[in-house]
Amino acid sequence: MLDKRIKPSVIVKYLDQHVIGQDDAKKIMAVAVYSHYRKIEKAKKDGVDIAKSNVLLIGPSGTGKTLLCETLSRFLGVPFVTADATSLAQTRYVNDEIEAILQRLVDKAGGNLERAQLGIVFIDEVDKLKAPAGQSRSTSGESVQHALLKIMEGSQAKLGANQYIDTTNLLFICGGAFVGLEDIMEGSQTYGFIAASGADSKSILDRLNARVKPTDLFQFGLIPEFTGRLPMVARFRDLTKDMLVRILIEPKNCIYNQFIEIFRNEGVELAVDRKAFEQIADLALEYKTGARSLRGIFEELITPVLYAVPDDPSIKKVEIESLFTEPRYVRA
Ligand SMILES: Nc1ncnc2c1ncn2[C@@H]1O[C@H](COP(=O)(O)OP(=O)(O)OP(=O)(O)O)[C@@H](O)[C@H]1O
Ligand SMILES: [Mg+2]
Repeated sequence: MLDKRIKPSVIVKYLDQHVIGQDDAKKIMAVAVYSHYRKIEKAKKDGVDIAKSNVLLIGPSGTGKTLLCETLSRFLGVPFVTADATSLAQTRYVNDEIEAILQRLVDKAGGNLERAQLGIVFIDEVDKLKAPAGQSRSTSGESVQHALLKIMEGSQAKLGANQYIDTTNLLFICGGAFVGLEDIMEGSQTYGFIAASGADSKSILDRLNARVKPTDLFQFGLIPEFTGRLPMVARFRDLTKDMLVRILIEPKNCIYNQFIEIFRNEGVELAVDRKAFEQIADLALEYKTGARSLRGIFEELITPVLYAVPDDPSIKKVEIESLFTEPRYVRA
């Protein structure tokens, strides 16, 4: 099922081409999917039951959670769907919604139920299923968690008329920003009391302490049964200025390359200085939406140029040095 050459390190190498930074999260995800599909193979061969390790991704908005999952499923060639926990919590018909999500998975698998049953379901914004502030519990959020629990641990879920999908081998990835979790973790017990000697044990201690514990998630407002089904936790970090610059210019399908291509179609070469990218990254940092605002800022910069270029066929090259200087047009 999983190509023998696919090892966690191979997965990470592929992810590196598309997702900047987030090295810890990449490793955790790579190991999670690798062992998930290995376990299924083993279960098929030996007939033993598998204990599933669904994954929880925690991190600020726009830092690559969805991108990482999409990239991963593309690499693995398994069907992948995303769903939004917030909209699940807003509907009175949670089970119909869940049914629709699983139906989309089957559609993604081209109607092949067998392939769909090995897919990945990404449920975003599960942190919104917590009880609202001041309320000890939220009935709607909690009932969604219960509904999700059922399919996460594996069941025959209904798919419209007389069709069922077995969710046992689906990998569930849940995501959320979990604002305020840091404070909870700070207050929860740390492992500092274990005497650390040497650099090695210090780094193990740091890792343990950076770990999100089920009790932290419980305190945050998720029900214990739900957090219990998410044993693997990967944390996404805030993107630094340098990472934002790299996102603009490094990945194969990065924003810069996309616009180079657009200009090439007009017979024009586009050259943007690193300084301009750094300025864009600075603005994006201020907007606090991770990498999400990069495209908008870049488009704002480039729109006047894209307006002018088609009118003047003598333009062969456009050089942009900074956000605050006029673009330079090189004519033939
Ligand atoms: N680490 C990254 N490397 C490359 N591109 C990134 C990275 N993080 C974000 N991006 C870019 O920003 C866009 C938004 O990222 P993404 O959808 O993955 O955010 P998210 O973490 O899922 O946020 P949210 O919590 O709001 O759903 C992506 O489409 C991608 O272009
Ligand atoms: Mg997302």
